[in-house]
Amino acid sequence: MERLQKVIASCGVSSRRGAEELILTGRVKVNGQVFKELGRKVSEKDVIEVDGEVISRCEKVYYMLNKPRGVISSLSDDKGRKTVVDFIETDKRIYPVGRLDYDTTGVLLLTNDGEFANILMHPQYEIDKVYIAKIRGIIRGEDIRSLKSGVFVDGKCMKASRVKLRSKNIDHNTSIVEIVIHEGHNHQVKNMFSSIGYDVLKLKRERVGIFELGNLKSGEVRKLTPKEVQVVYSLKKKSNISI
Ligand code: URA
Repeated sequence: MERLQKVIASCGVSSRRGAEELILTGRVKVNGQVFKELGRKVSEKDVIEVDGEVISRCEKVYYMLNKPRGVISSLSDDKGRKTVVDFIETDKRIYPVGRLDYDTTGVLLLTNDGEFANILMHPQYEIDKVYIAKIRGIIRGEDIRSLKSGVFVDGKCMKASRVKLRSKNIDHNTSIVEIVIHEGHNHQVKNMFSSIGYDVLKLKRERVGIFELGNLKSGEVRKLTPKEVQVVYSLKKKSNISI
């Protein structure tokens, strides 16, 4: 069940505010009856009309973008910078599933399906977010162990579920480290490294759950397949977590 104004807005008829106005001025019917209350919740089965026209329920859409550097993960930017939604041609109101920093590259999913997004972001589902970080310095074994056992960022303990040194470059004094986390706090990977004294020079998200970059090039987009969407929903069925 979703609020009537949310459903109207999500189908692109108007903004949320505009939908409230439509309801309050009696231009919206639910199952043939005018409804002027804002609190009303509707289900998939309810027939909604605006100005006498039935609105078709919004088709859900799912995309994966290989996010380039220098792009922000929000819907608009007051400084006029390019945003992740600029890469996708759709008339639906899609939004990114979690955020990647302006300078972080890699897997970013976008959808208009809130439930799908919640499953991927909820830490209890333990969905891998796999990052490749280029850091300044040669990482020590004990620091890899600390990342796994938990480091403190702003008084909060943050753990990586896996950490692996992929390569090191003694001449340039850098290491390439694979780090897997299940949460998605702001700047989490950079903050975790910084808490043990390493700067992250480059960061790329290689995988989120079953979603890998594959041969998607920087700035390219592909639609998720129905099978992939189903796999995500099946995680919810397996666990009894309500989100
Ligand atoms: N952690 C970060 O520090 N930055 C990102 O963009 C994603 C995870």
